Amino acid sequence: MTDVHNEAAEILIILNGEEVNVQKDMTIREASSKMMVDIPTICWSENLEPANACRLCVVEVEGSKTLVPSCSRKVENGMNISTASSRVKASRRMILEFLATANDLSQAPEITNLFDDYGVDIDRYESPTRISAEVKIQDELYVRDYSKCILCYKCVDACGEQAQNTFAIAFSGRGYGTQVSTEFDVELPESDCVYCGNCVAVCPTNALQFKTEFDLRDASNWRPEDQTVTTTVCSYCGVGCNLELHTQDNQIVKVTSPTDHDVTNGNLCIKGRFGWEYVNWVEKKSH
Ligand code: SF4
Ligand code: SF4
Ligand code: FES
Repeated sequence: MTDVHNEAAEILIILNGEEVNVQKDMTIREASSKMMVDIPTICWSENLEPANACRLCVVEVEGSKTLVPSCSRKVENGMNISTASSRVKASRRMILEFLATANDLSQAPEITNLFDDYGVDIDRYESPTRISAEVKIQDELYVRDYSKCILCYKCVDACGEQAQNTFAIAFSGRGYGTQVSTEFDVELPESDCVYCGNCVAVCPTNALQFKTEFDLRDASNWRPEDQTVTTTVCSYCGVGCNLELHTQDNQIVKVTSPTDHDVTNGNLCIKGRFGWEYVNWVEKKSH
């Protein structure tokens, strides 16, 4: 028997046939992660509450009629959990095939890298056809390509009460016509958006992406393998947010923030996120 957390081992679960002591306030995903059992997720994020939207993280719990989302379901004493049963795998494969049918996942490697593991057949479904949407380019900071949007809720939650409290975006429409929208679908600069970019930071499919990245991709010059990430501290105010400067060819191409940082939790304001253009400009002028 494995003891995952000696100090507060309060309940016993059976994880893929092995008895494990775990903290009673853990989710199934957390307990599995401690045991090095990998469960794929899409809508879960370290810095957000579980949205329970994608259902990719489902596992089988003995006695439960339906598969349960491991990102939000807490462990219970005596729970017998299978994270990779044939039923679980079939469900994950179906979800991935639905996503591949409806969305452009060409810039979502964390999702497409799962295809082989689950034997995904991207041509299984002929309809409904792929969602098509024009890329919305309304400013120089970030673009929105909703043909890539899988409706995971992350951006809406980051913009709302879980981080930014701006509520500039929400879901509109129904069924296949559902999409993320500003109020009355006004252009982004006319909306309540304060351009913090926290929505962009959590998007798993690049439906929201920085304009710099979009332009470099458009020029076939987006090269993550050649990029360096340097952590520094934002110099604009005394909060002390950590910034991760992504540089390519000695130019900043985007700025993120570590999700495990207890000041920012991955979030930034417009100054830290986008106020770096002058660095590239000074660099160009001095050469
Ligand atoms: S940039 Fe910030 S304010 Fe604007 S939509 Fe995204 S999270 Fe909301
Ligand atoms: S735009 Fe991105 S973060 Fe927002 S719901 Fe769509 S996929 Fe999720
Ligand atoms: S990761 Fe659990 S429902 Fe999406």
